Amino acid sequence: MEKLSFTVSTDQEKKIEALIAKMTVDEKIGQLNQVGPSPVGGFEISLKEKKLMLKEGKITKEEFERDLEGVQWDTRESDVRSGKIGSFLGMRGVEKCNHMQHIAVEESRLGIPLFFGLDVVHGLRTIFPIPLAESCSFDENLFEQTARIAAKEAAATGIKLTFAPMIDVCRDARWGRIAEGAGEDTYLTSRFAAAKVRGFQGDDIAKDDRIAACAKHFVAYGAAIGGRDYNSADMSLQTLWETYLPPFKEAVDSGVATFMTSFNDLNGEPCTTSKYLLKDILRNKWRFNGAVISDSGAIGELIEHGTVSDKAEAAEQALNAGIDIDMSSMCYTENLKNSVLRSNISEEELNEAVRRVLRLKFALGLFDHPYTDELSGEKMYLCKAHTQLAREAGRKSIVLLKNDGILPLKSNLKIAVVGELAATRKEMLGTWAAMGRGDEAVCLLDGFAERNISVSYEECCKVNGTFDRTALERAVKDADIVIAAVGEYADMSGEASSLCNIGLHGEQEKMLSALKELGKPFVTVMFNGRPLAVPKAVKISNALIEAWHLGSQAGNSICDVLFGDYNPSGRLTATFPNHSGECPIYYNHVSTGRPTSEIRHSCKYMDAPLTPLFPFGYGLSYTEYTYKDFIINEEKNGLCAEVTVKNIGEIAGEETVQLYAHMQKAKRVRPVRELKAFKKVYLNPGEEKRVKLFIDRCAFQYYDMQMNLVEGSGAVDFFIGHDSTASLKTVMILGGGSNE
Ligand code: BGC
Repeated sequence: MEKLSFTVSTDQEKKIEALIAKMTVDEKIGQLNQVGPSPVGGFEISLKEKKLMLKEGKITKEEFERDLEGVQWDTRESDVRSGKIGSFLGMRGVEKCNHMQHIAVEESRLGIPLFFGLDVVHGLRTIFPIPLAESCSFDENLFEQTARIAAKEAAATGIKLTFAPMIDVCRDARWGRIAEGAGEDTYLTSRFAAAKVRGFQGDDIAKDDRIAACAKHFVAYGAAIGGRDYNSADMSLQTLWETYLPPFKEAVDSGVATFMTSFNDLNGEPCTTSKYLLKDILRNKWRFNGAVISDSGAIGELIEHGTVSDKAEAAEQALNAGIDIDMSSMCYTENLKNSVLRSNISEEELNEAVRRVLRLKFALGLFDHPYTDELSGEKMYLCKAHTQLAREAGRKSIVLLKNDGILPLKSNLKIAVVGELAATRKEMLGTWAAMGRGDEAVCLLDGFAERNISVSYEECCKVNGTFDRTALERAVKDADIVIAAVGEYADMSGEASSLCNIGLHGEQEKMLSALKELGKPFVTVMFNGRPLAVPKAVKISNALIEAWHLGSQAGNSICDVLFGDYNPSGRLTATFPNHSGECPIYYNHVSTGRPTSEIRHSCKYMDAPLTPLFPFGYGLSYTEYTYKDFIINEEKNGLCAEVTVKNIGEIAGEETVQLYAHMQKAKRVRPVRELKAFKKVYLNPGEEKRVKLFIDRCAFQYYDMQMNLVEGSGAVDFFIGHDSTASLKTVMILGGGSNE
């Protein structure tokens, strides 16, 4: 059965029609206008900061003056009063939201409430791991829980829409925004999408602690050529449908309330004005009934794309294509009225967009409860339950990449800590930290302090800076073991943070080499928002922990793993290359005619290893698991795989059982392996469990050269195990075969 994003009652539908009948064209356009609280767009930049930016040469004098001109409409109160604004983005603070809401409800002619949207991507004040990190937990329940808490805190500050989840599949770690999604795999990203929508929205977005979600960015933004942000995406329709669209379909099926289009063009057409994407697929094929929002300023950017000549044409094309809400570009506000007068847009088309915005507002319960209790937030931000979840999410997101046995740390060791990132709280929060505050985060040094473990610390090397050998020698002189913190600042990933070199920056690698020379055993802890190409660090470190940007409780989560209070269970959801030049790199590439091998004329680079630094799904723990008795049986709606997994170590742990498939023969080349199912299983030392995984019948569908959806058939290789290189195999003939 079709699941609608939200439904409003017949009575509310009547109210919507009555309102539309009363609205002037200006008021209608106002409902479609979403702006930030300041003249500089969605980001709250004070005049003081603006002046500083000017001083530091970050903006030109012209830009500064242009922004100043807008200062009189900084709070935009008069525009709200006259019904020119339907919603805000980036408004931070419950008092401010309520203040503006009072104006909308009590002082505007029709009293239509506003809604407030914010990028609550991985938490509001309690910050959870960045999505790429969290995806490594392979834990759908966790994805949902962290979204639920994020929604709770956001709703308490007046936010009723989050611009999340970001469900762009990304196969190129140079793209900074890989940090915001669930990595390179379509199936995992789809599971992530569904769980996040459930978490943010629950069963009713009108509830006090729920908010509307937004599936973004529609679509193929993660396929930006060369990993350069905002770049074109160019791909076959088959790849679009098989790899990039499924998470969005999953979001629709999960009832997501809104969609956001992406900045990029796809095969030459800006997604902002793609009728193919917005009408043919989203509305007509998928029956999405929620509201569609443009990305920030994207309608205006159509001029730069060169597909329209001015803002008026941009507004017309966007509305015609199906964008209901114009985020930040003001194109609708400045132009749509004329377009209606000139009949370039019909008033009915305008009404349809307004209807969708009003439905969202009714569904959010804003007509009945427009205001937010100003006290509830402070009581819950970073409360015990929320920080506990952040700590748990943090430790489940950590991926242990190497361990020669040095971890978990023995007690009573003298520990030295080096590296800037061990002491920088705000960098722990990662990109898009909503209302997170740096000083409220726990950094690695805080983590040691909370355990009353004294360490000797020297910065020795900034992320981008030079390495101070004397400081290093001083720090490690008496130490039995060294913890070296390296990686990226929070703003080195995320939007507009693409890199062509994804190795360690500055002289951080030199610092690691010096530790090696000094003969000190050391554990490297990496803080980063993307896979890093760090073969040397892997080689010389005794252990390597991928700690990402873990949020508010980062330091505690890492210490839980370092000291063995938590047995690491995270698995990579994006392949780690040996060199930046290997990007894009992903495990589920299609079969070539010359598979990668030692043979000269095979698919590979001459100057790189045949295998990635770390494959998809990879991650160690403090124990080991074995697999046996793998079978697959056909069931009514799909297949059921069964395998026995045993913990053969001495420590309890959680294994992520991963099931991959490869179709032996098809009409189009198929991926060498594709994740089809996964399950987490907790095993005590010596314990074994029979694990069952279900694969939907549709999982083997693909598109032929004519774009017909065909059922996969014939022999399929199934692999089950610990990561994407798993070798335990069985073959099944789809449509009636048995196990080999
Ligand atoms: C980003 C979106 C974000 C929006 C609002 C844009 O620049 O691409 O992901 O939701 O800003 O902050």
